[in-house]
Amino acid sequence: MQSAAQKVEHQLTDKGYVPVYTTRVIEQPWDSYTAEDHRTWAILFQRQRELLVGRAAQEFIDNQQRFGMSADAIPKFEDLNRVLRATTGWELIGVEGLLPELTFFEHLAARRFPVTWWIRKPEQLDYLSEPDLFHDLFGHVPLLLNPVFADYMQAYGAGGVKAAAIAPEALVNLTRLYWYTVEFGLIRTDQGLRIYGAGIVSSKGESIYSLESAAPNRIGFDLERVMRTRYRIDTFQKTYFVIDSYEQLMEATRPDFTPLYARLADQSSYAAGDVLADDQVFQRGSGEGWLTDGDV
Ligand code: PHE
Ligand code: CO
Repeated sequence: MQSAAQKVEHQLTDKGYVPVYTTRVIEQPWDSYTAEDHRTWAILFQRQRELLVGRAAQEFIDNQQRFGMSADAIPKFEDLNRVLRATTGWELIGVEGLLPELTFFEHLAARRFPVTWWIRKPEQLDYLSEPDLFHDLFGHVPLLLNPVFADYMQAYGAGGVKAAAIAPEALVNLTRLYWYTVEFGLIRTDQGLRIYGAGIVSSKGESIYSLESAAPNRIGFDLERVMRTRYRIDTFQKTYFVIDSYEQLMEATRPDFTPLYARLADQSSYAAGDVLADDQVFQRGSGEGWLTDGDV
């Protein structure tokens, strides 16, 4: 018999809140979602879908529709998986919370995307410090239907397994790439800048801020530049990096990173808000409201 699904979150210790990692893969306990859980999904889904018209990359919205995602109910992983397996061969697996880094990489390398099964509480609609079902499903899953992005995610996972065997610093560089693309990436389209990063599309405030605020930098994607740049985990980003296409991302990351990691190990990192002389600057941020410390 299967034991009950657990909800694993950050726990308060004498060192503050620390993440709790679990490796257990579970079946989505769909029947255990309460009416309140479905309502939370509905509110967030509706709110973001309205906000994201003309802000999110069109393929993001189209793919949500291909999945049949709607405000009606929390989607079943099983239903999404039928579409996903047939299209790009990816598969969603249920998890209880954060996975250890290497485990996460191994899943991605095998085209398995871990999705947190539980959804936030109604009082956490606007902010949550860790991924929940809404972030993972609404934010990450749609682009897994895009063939190029799907390959990028797998390559990233394989690259993570490799980097983990090289040095902890290599993982720092690689994590910045994930952060500034998969989580907080912008893409240039004929209609203007659009959002494709999951961390942005799942946040009301940052969906507006990332595109419309005068405060942050918006800078053309450059692999080494991104891998040297620290980021924010507790505030909106100071800098967003803009790609031209998913093909650009795929091509830029195709080479073996081993020599790159070696080179980066001798170089200092950039602050989250730095603008460099040879950056392709779409917008130089005003810096309004930036905290002076706290880059990670
Ligand atoms: N090409 C990278 C390497 O050799 C792997 C990778 C691909 C990393 C795509 C990130 C994204 O490590
Ligand atoms: Co995420």
